[in-house]
Amino acid sequence: MKINGKLVEARPAPGQCLRTFIRDQGEDSVKKGCDAGDCGACSVLIDGEPHHSCLIPAFRVSDAEITTVSGLGTPDNMHPLQQRFVDAAGFQCGFCTAGMVVTVSALDRAQLDDLPQSLKGNLCRCTGYRSICDAIDGVVGTEKVSAGDPGRSVGRSIPAPAAKRIVTGTEPYTMDRLPTDLGHIAVVGSPHPHARILSIDTTAAEQMPGVRAVLTHRDDPGVRFSTARHENRLDDPDDTHVFDTTVRFVGQRVAAVVADSMTVARRAGELITVEYEVLQANFDPALATEPGTPLVHGDKGRGARIADPQSNLVAGFEGTTGDVDAGLEQARAAGGTVVSGRWQTARVQHTHLETHGAVGWRDENGRLVIRSSTQVPFLIRDELCHIFGLPADDLRVHTARVGGGFGGKQELLTEDLVLLAMLKTGRPAVYEFTRTDQFTIAPCRHPMRIDVTAAAGADGVLTALSVSVLSDAGAYGNHSTGVLFHSCGESVALYRCANKHVDARAVYTNNIPSGAFRGYGLGQVSFGIEGAIDELAAQLGIDPFEMRRINVTVPGDPLVTWQVEEDDLEYGSYGLDQCLDLAQGALESGRTDPTRNGEVLASQPDWQIGEGMAATMIATIPPRGHHADARMTLTAEGDFIAAVGTAEFGNGTTTVLTQIAASALGCAPSQIVLQQADTDVVGHDTGAFGSAGTVVAGKALNSACVELRRRIIEVAAARLGADQADCRLGPQGVQAGAAFIDLPGVAAAAGGTLECSGNHDGSPRSVAYNVHAFRVAVSTATGQVRILQSLQAADAGVVMNPQQCRGQIEGGAAQAIGTALYEEMILEDGHVMTQVLRNYHIPQLADVPRTDVYFADTYDSVGPLGAKSMSEAPYNPVAPALESAIRNAIGVRIHQLPMNPPRVWRALTT
Ligand code: FES
Repeated sequence: MKINGKLVEARPAPGQCLRTFIRDQGEDSVKKGCDAGDCGACSVLIDGEPHHSCLIPAFRVSDAEITTVSGLGTPDNMHPLQQRFVDAAGFQCGFCTAGMVVTVSALDRAQLDDLPQSLKGNLCRCTGYRSICDAIDGVVGTEKVSAGDPGRSVGRSIPAPAAKRIVTGTEPYTMDRLPTDLGHIAVVGSPHPHARILSIDTTAAEQMPGVRAVLTHRDDPGVRFSTARHENRLDDPDDTHVFDTTVRFVGQRVAAVVADSMTVARRAGELITVEYEVLQANFDPALATEPGTPLVHGDKGRGARIADPQSNLVAGFEGTTGDVDAGLEQARAAGGTVVSGRWQTARVQHTHLETHGAVGWRDENGRLVIRSSTQVPFLIRDELCHIFGLPADDLRVHTARVGGGFGGKQELLTEDLVLLAMLKTGRPAVYEFTRTDQFTIAPCRHPMRIDVTAAAGADGVLTALSVSVLSDAGAYGNHSTGVLFHSCGESVALYRCANKHVDARAVYTNNIPSGAFRGYGLGQVSFGIEGAIDELAAQLGIDPFEMRRINVTVPGDPLVTWQVEEDDLEYGSYGLDQCLDLAQGALESGRTDPTRNGEVLASQPDWQIGEGMAATMIATIPPRGHHADARMTLTAEGDFIAAVGTAEFGNGTTTVLTQIAASALGCAPSQIVLQQADTDVVGHDTGAFGSAGTVVAGKALNSACVELRRRIIEVAAARLGADQADCRLGPQGVQAGAAFIDLPGVAAAAGGTLECSGNHDGSPRSVAYNVHAFRVAVSTATGQVRILQSLQAADAGVVMNPQQCRGQIEGGAAQAIGTALYEEMILEDGHVMTQVLRNYHIPQLADVPRTDVYFADTYDSVGPLGAKSMSEAPYNPVAPALESAIRNAIGVRIHQLPMNPPRVWRALTT
């Protein structure tokens, strides 16, 4: 066949699909998102027609012309459509982009006019699709900065530095440009939710030609750890082994085969026989701490940092400020009301399009190297060295561009097996999750039960707020402690109330483990608290926006959960008042917008129209330490190299950090070369999670740049014989009156290069705000919910890159709409039944409304150059805002996610 115009002569393996065949020919622009024909990341043109290459047997198209996205254009000579994706920032992580561009390139006019239908085979988890539609429509981002407009890049919508490579499929991801002689890893998982391994027979597998090693608990290094990664490794319980002798959820690793090919590895895995003693299991978190319930980690002592392994309690806490009972009485006495309810959130998957994976090899000096799809390369390096007893210098961990994370890649899931395989075989190794692995063995979002009692007087003033949370940790405690604390943090502290009570527990079950997910618990508990506040407002006849104005904390108020929040949390800026005004104004103006189509539905007897909103607050940095080192270098050639540890996974840090550096040094963004996410590049970086990429790494880089600028001026002034106060640093060099020295000259005068460092420890922390509002139509006949208007107002401080930040908010809202209305992992006795994207529906273009985005105008005194984070935050208010709008439409509150048609219909009819 011809691939991108080049004749290829090769014999496909029996049954080989076109996707892997193309990649075997060295063409990496074809990505794997599902290998089941659902996501479209592997789309190519076959004789000009778009197809999912994972569904096509390679031999069937042996005489075809195949075009991948890199066949459409190159970074230096882009197809017009690729240019439009650059201009409109039509991607975030970019993992879907190759397939998206290739598909759109083949659409005719009629198909372009019906994008929801034409793109139903191409999924994007990051963008919310608006920027993709903008790209297709040729909408150019506003507020562009050009190379001739240097030094003014903060606050402007500059394109991502990797934009041209992403749209042409030439930006490498984790599984691209793999080393040779790879050992492919296939894992044998437990069929039981709880069992003891009595014996494993690996003889037949080991004898199979092509098998390099078979790994079992006999190869376990004997060190317990947590897959969750934090700055302080003691934050999570040590309850996990690389290979354990007890399995606690279906699919847990029992053995792994390392072989010359994945086909051999899988076949050999089928030859392994395991004898189990099946143990009783518990799948119900409500029963987990009851006497007699099977213990998931009963074999462990307190040294594992489990709150109480003898009652399945991972973590728990309780506290009261004031007197809640007195507060309830106070409300009744003041002619007010009391609301009590139980809310339940669902188990959902991150569904980043790039699955988990890692590849390892030894470099030319024999040092171990791992490239991983991770948000936390430094923490992965440190924990691997802890588990395997290696000095930190013996292992380098780095990332390529990561294809989405949403918190899911703050876990150590594949790297340990890759390292063990390398150590056992002495050869390179690769381990990549399938999409089904992603659903069945990767941690998901914690399902939570939230009981809320709230009371307010007739004037709407809150007098009592009591919150009780039960979180299903699943079989391992990774992130459960942190998520539990965070879930009851800013969600409770948002409200000024003298009488508060919080109690919360995270418990072990034999379900799939839960883990970090965008919002880190806030979205779950906000679903309950915002619902209760909304119900109070409804019962008191107070507008929900007004209810917030009456009760939210403002600068000067202490931030109180059941105690005053940690001292390093402060109001670096405050834009919630603006957000409430912006959202309310936009919602009201939408009532008369004919494009919303609400009037048509409103005229039909079985559709009811409703409006609703919710507000959320989030700390801009995680607590308990978040550290970033940065280094800024002026090279002999006059280039600037910015070195940071934080990773790029669609969070936009590459762009924002480039803007920060360019602004500080008065140069064009194109003059900044960013090196990142590599343990060899800087001393340490906690990682890109908790929205820390901009505010922690950004501050570290800014301080390095400020120091470099000072040094450049100092050197130039000495060289020119000028006063430092008269020196001006520009894109090309330093001007002092009529005298000028260019940047290479400054570097030469400094001895060849100039290098400055900066770091930031993640304290103090500020708070950011989001208000989401919806107008919906709800069918009383079917329970169907249609979103007529969606908008979000955000307080992001100084918005570093409006186009990119807007995309983050649109994407967060789209992801949250999916998890609010229809996404749900279904488990039966611990077995995940939703194993492919076809039966775990994430939003397609057709499902997602346009979310209008508004920004408050604030300057944060804590963040870099006035900025606050806006990565997780947009997700959190969406589900409670939908809950509020549905309640407003039909008079019935839905207390359970997802609020799908059967659930809404049942609520209406019972
Ligand atoms: Fe579409 Fe990340 S940009 S999946």
